[in-house]
Amino acid sequence: MDSYFGIIPLDNDYVVLFSLLTDTTHLFGVHEREYRTSLFRLQQVAGHVTMQCMGNRKALLIGYGNIGKAVEERLGQIDAQLSGIIRSDGLLLNPKTLEPTSQDKNAWKDQKPDIVFVSMPSTETGKEAFAYIDHFASKGVPVVTAEKGAMANKFHELKPYLDTTLGVSATVGGGTRMMQVLKERINRQVNQVHLVLNGTLNFILDGVSRGQSFGQVVEQAQSLGYAEPGAASHLDVINGETIGDVPKKISILWNYTESPNDPNAQYVNWKDFKQPAITKDILSQLIAEANIRRYIVSWYREPMIIPKNDILSGFEYKIGDWRIVGGFQRVDRNPLFAELSKAGPSNGMVIATGKDERDGVYVLSGPGAGPGPTSASMIQDASKLLSISKG
Ligand SMILES: NC(=O)c1ccc[n+]([C@@H]2O[C@H](COP(=O)([O-])OP(=O)(O)OC[C@H]3O[C@@H](n4cnc5c(N)ncnc54)[C@H](OP(=O)(O)O)[C@@H]3O)[C@@H](O)[C@H]2O)c1
Repeated sequence: MDSYFGIIPLDNDYVVLFSLLTDTTHLFGVHEREYRTSLFRLQQVAGHVTMQCMGNRKALLIGYGNIGKAVEERLGQIDAQLSGIIRSDGLLLNPKTLEPTSQDKNAWKDQKPDIVFVSMPSTETGKEAFAYIDHFASKGVPVVTAEKGAMANKFHELKPYLDTTLGVSATVGGGTRMMQVLKERINRQVNQVHLVLNGTLNFILDGVSRGQSFGQVVEQAQSLGYAEPGAASHLDVINGETIGDVPKKISILWNYTESPNDPNAQYVNWKDFKQPAITKDILSQLIAEANIRRYIVSWYREPMIIPKNDILSGFEYKIGDWRIVGGFQRVDRNPLFAELSKAGPSNGMVIATGKDERDGVYVLSGPGAGPGPTSASMIQDASKLLSISKG
């Protein structure tokens, strides 16, 4: 009997259907012969079964923009449906009508969802996002967040929830899941880590190096949902990413990967990464050199001499025996950077182990920004947390 189902493509939806159909063939009155006669018929039946069994879990969505809407589209993958939405006015909305369920701004506190997604704008303090996360996670309700301010400012308060009640993969590295990979790989043998943490900057520099105008490619990044919300000018978009986004990501990644590996781990504060603002002059140089520069953050354990002109608009920070260096680095100066010069809104990571990389170099890259990869990573976190909470 099972062999007839081998023709169903095994993507997320169909894996679920596969077992349901196997279990419920007779209940739905679909004869074995009907499966054989046509794949179309089979998919129709499968669609019917999906409709009936989807949405048992209740999902609360906090933030209903690019990422929130993309998460909504994937809720079927975790057998969930929307039970409520919260937008910038803080009111709880009915997901079908998008009308407030009441004028009480605390109405969301009475909600008892099975899973919560936080996809509101990342702020300097992360205060509002923290309040939502803490409220639900402290009650054992799994929360998945793409917002970075809470993790960047309140790491110690959120640490007890990490990976059991709180999923944070989408805060750094988009769809690459680099946080988990680095957490596993970091050890005393790792001497250098190089990171492209901001897909939007990568997309913009890549576009300019291919002949697109700066303004055009920035607007394209905005319309594709890659750029952080709220920028007033093209230069603001760049500064929003370099000053507002990258330092938060470095601190989240550092604190997340260091904390489980070293009982004496030293934590960083994102505000200690003094990324200078990009001026119009620096922007002109960056545009002229777009083919040889990428925004790369490097962690060096080895003493390394980096020529001054190799980093444009950079910063340096020392912690323990590490030096963290960030800025628009020259990709033609370090062979390890070659793997990081990918097209589009990519994120990437190179981990070099042993003195002079003699124990190997590990590379990870993938789509770093955008609603598709980000929401996919959030759903993957949700799926893991839900399986833990089920026991
Ligand atoms: N875009 C990406 O590629 C990407 C990748 C990784 C992580 N992220 C993070 O994902 C989050 C969402 O990004 P986005 O591109 O979806 O932004 P967006 O399109 O601007 O959507 C933001 C949503 O949040 C709502 N909102 C604003 N303030 C709120 C508040 N105080 N409480 C509840 N909801 C509030 C907005 O409400 P209104 O509808 O009322 O305006 C809007 O629905 C950001 O934190 C971003 O850093 C984005």
